[in-house]
Amino acid sequence: MLLAYDDHGPGPVVVLLHGFPLNRSLWEHQTGSVGSRYRLILPDLRGHGASAAPPGTYSMDVLADDVIELLDVLQLTEPVVLGGLSMGGYVALSIMARFPQRVRALILMDTKAEADTPAAAEAREVMASQIEGAQDVKPVVDAMLPRLLSASSAAAYPEMVARVRKMLETTAPRGVIGALRGLATRPDRTAMLSSIRVPTLLLFGQEDVITPPETAQTLASAIPYAQTVIIPKAGHLPPLENADAVNAALLNFLGTL
Ligand code: MLT
Repeated sequence: MLLAYDDHGPGPVVVLLHGFPLNRSLWEHQTGSVGSRYRLILPDLRGHGASAAPPGTYSMDVLADDVIELLDVLQLTEPVVLGGLSMGGYVALSIMARFPQRVRALILMDTKAEADTPAAAEAREVMASQIEGAQDVKPVVDAMLPRLLSASSAAAYPEMVARVRKMLETTAPRGVIGALRGLATRPDRTAMLSSIRVPTLLLFGQEDVITPPETAQTLASAIPYAQTVIIPKAGHLPPLENADAVNAALLNFLGTL
């Protein structure tokens, strides 16, 4: 399925995958900075943003296959730098596991390798059923909005809260349902972490309550060539909350490749 995407800037290719249930505007503060030196490919994952939302469960492998299809259409057959935030990180790990030859470096932001616990998976299914019944994404907005931004970002930047709310509210019900069911059934990728042979940047918001900074330590102890940057003044969405620190960390990492 061909995804909607932005293609910004010159130079080596960097693909960035947004989280759930967001869209490629998550990266708006990276396009001017990182996008002035690198070619940023920014897709809307299936069911999100301007991409189509077909029925069905969006497994992380399905989402990953869409990204590979986009790279093929763009004739980007050389390995790329691949980054993903949260669900985008799960998709990036699916690509690492199944298409490692397409990746020259990896950026994992506010994400983890573990599968859902049975309780978390059950809660996602309850939410998917509610949204299916009402055809309204309100349950996911209510559950996620208070947890995405750090308390300090939410207090200091009401316009950022409004923007994130809009991203959540404009995701199609079918997209949210498909992703919830894919997230709930995603595999545990812990065992493959030690086989990652490319330079890896772990970038986590210091105040992230969904994937706290300790999660970065777990990944760093398993991935051979990993370096960690903790972003201050940020929760689960550092690219929006502290773009300057994120851009500096990305440019620093990319400059070493
Ligand atoms: C995300 O930001 O993509 C979600 O928090 C992922 C998840 O719910 O596991």
